[in-house]
Amino acid sequence: MAVTSLALPQIAHRLLRLLPPEEAHRAGLALVKFVKPQRLEVPEEVMLETWLGRLAPPIGLAAGLDKTGERVAHLSALGFGYVVAGSITLAPRAGNRRPRIVRREGEALVNAMGLPNPGLDAFVKNLARAAPAAGVPVVASVAGTDPGEILKCYLGLRGAASGVEVNLSSPSLSEAAAIWSEEMFRLLVERLSEAKWCPVALKVPPLARSDLRELVLKAVKIWADFGLESITAVNTLPVPEPRLSTGFGGLSGRPLKKYMLESLRELRRIIGDGCEINAVGGIFTAEDALQAFELGAKTVQIYTALAYRGPSIVRQMITDLAKTLRKLGMRSIEEALP
Ligand SMILES: Cc1cc2nc3c(=O)[nH]c(=O)nc-3n(C[C@H](O)[C@H](O)[C@H](O)COP(=O)(O)O)c2cc1C
Repeated sequence: MAVTSLALPQIAHRLLRLLPPEEAHRAGLALVKFVKPQRLEVPEEVMLETWLGRLAPPIGLAAGLDKTGERVAHLSALGFGYVVAGSITLAPRAGNRRPRIVRREGEALVNAMGLPNPGLDAFVKNLARAAPAAGVPVVASVAGTDPGEILKCYLGLRGAASGVEVNLSSPSLSEAAAIWSEEMFRLLVERLSEAKWCPVALKVPPLARSDLRELVLKAVKIWADFGLESITAVNTLPVPEPRLSTGFGGLSGRPLKKYMLESLRELRRIIGDGCEINAVGGIFTAEDALQAFELGAKTVQIYTALAYRGPSIVRQMITDLAKTLRKLGMRSIEEALP
């Protein structure tokens, strides 16, 4: 499994930190094209059998960075075991007015991107070109405001991705919140189950969101009862942010970790062994990832850590995870799971 030589991209990353965050994101994505693959074996210890097959490593790129699906191959070359592209909606969206991302103290971001994306058709064309070159499973993230829209996206993605993540939890698509109602959610799950062509994950908000908490707890139970494969926990936490055009946005990065861990514990309690969980929120190090595995996550995803620590972070996490497991006398991540 090839990961990359990242000295130059790491230097470029430091320079990008001088730009406003959205420009830094765009430039970073453009520069990722120049990352050259170099062979480096991923140690056996950090491979794991998951809902997406055997991942080497079970560390994924979280949704939101590659919104068009054009960069999945280059991003996978950073060492990710899988890449989530999107979120997309049925029709293209321009997103919110800028500024729509700001940095916060303590390695955090607050964003109100408003799901800018090229829409289903363009996304599928992009994935058809890029996904086979990625050499790792590509998961398509879909968002929408009613079960019909999500189902159309799911069907339209047939053959273009290895899995689909259903995102009903973006703070900037508040209309989607209606789908969490028990009746609508059950309808969505029934229709997804009938149309099933690939494994699916449900992306949930932090359970600290008191507006959605009870509905989400009921929904994950329904998801698991229908035998759907996976839950991704968590999306960003809505917070006030006067520097954004919207006045509020979703908090990600270090401060989200405690909410992610709390959510993980609670989800495991509710669904038992029912679904695999992908932990996301403030994961920056191998130690953070191990904490999530110990609470029952099968994979972890990162986003904000990549923005703060640069492209070598995945390789660092792989090396550190292998070292830590050996130190603990464990032969694989499997042994760290509860
Ligand atoms: C700028 C930005 C855009 C995002 N866009 C999406 C998105 O389109 N769909 C989605 O499901 N999550 C999106 N997220 C949320 C991330 O996938 C992730 O759940 C969250 O950032 C927590 O992980 P982190 O602390 O590692 O960043 C976005 C996050 C950021 C920072």
